[in-house]
Amino acid sequence: MSSSSITAVDQGRDLGRKIQPGPILLLGAPGVGKGTQAKELVKLWGIPQISTGDLLRANVAQGTQLGRVAKEIMGRGELVPDSLVNEMVAVRLLEPDTVRGYILDGFPRTLGQAHWLDGRLATQVESLPVVAVSIQVNYNQLLRRITGRRNCPVCQTIYNVYMNPPKKDGFCDVEGAALVQRADDTEEVFKERMRAYAALTAPVVDHYREQGRFAEVDGDRPIAAIAAGIVAAVERLRG
Ligand code: AP5
Ligand code: MG
Repeated sequence: MSSSSITAVDQGRDLGRKIQPGPILLLGAPGVGKGTQAKELVKLWGIPQISTGDLLRANVAQGTQLGRVAKEIMGRGELVPDSLVNEMVAVRLLEPDTVRGYILDGFPRTLGQAHWLDGRLATQVESLPVVAVSIQVNYNQLLRRITGRRNCPVCQTIYNVYMNPPKKDGFCDVEGAALVQRADDTEEVFKERMRAYAALTAPVVDHYREQGRFAEVDGDRPIAAIAAGIVAAVERLRG
């Protein structure tokens, strides 16, 4: 890492200490780095990452009724119905760790979900308004990120065999556990996820852009530099 990027991260960390984060939305196409960035912000701000993809995969793994419905839909790269996802998020937002703020990773993903969230927050007078950050990466880079991604099943650290490999091939640096690949991380399913993103989620980005507390960041940079950019944007939008 260059000394200039270390400076950018340090500046981001200084900024990050000053603000109350409140609700933050990380928006962006499949593989853009929402989960990777959410984990950086968790370390910085101590607020939880709420990834609807991770929550749905946990339901699939546990064989819940929601998981049984979601499994087929996720396997095709389509979106799980709003009513099911909204209910899952509603339950998670009742947890006490969300009081100072939270990072919604991969939600809202349709205008229906966005309107549901906006309505919910409007009834909570003590809540700060949402800040939305859209991460951008080009298509070919996204495909490489998706097909190269591996996850630790124990600590959920995200790796990439091409761009962010573990020290020992196939094993987590932290846990030593054998890394796994998501069932939907194939080129075929990625294409369907991109179709769903363009049709249903791109309008959500426009919705939050129009609301004003919105920033776009270039996601084709080192992880720490992107995190510093997100922190700086949130600080500015909370000002
Ligand atoms: P979800 O799990 O949310 O998948 P996604 O949106 O397709 O996003 P990903 O998790 O694939 O990517 P990411 O942006 O988190 O990138 P990551 O940080 O891992 O959803 C899965 C499915 O669940 C959906 O298809 C749908 O069926 C369902 N679902 C979920 N939410 C829903 C909702 N709200 N409504 C309805 N259905 C819903 O990074 C990717 C790779 O890139 C990694 O290998 C990483 O190491 C690498 N990387 C990251 N940053 C960098 C960098 N700066 N430089 C180099 N490599 C990098
Ligand atoms: Mg993710």
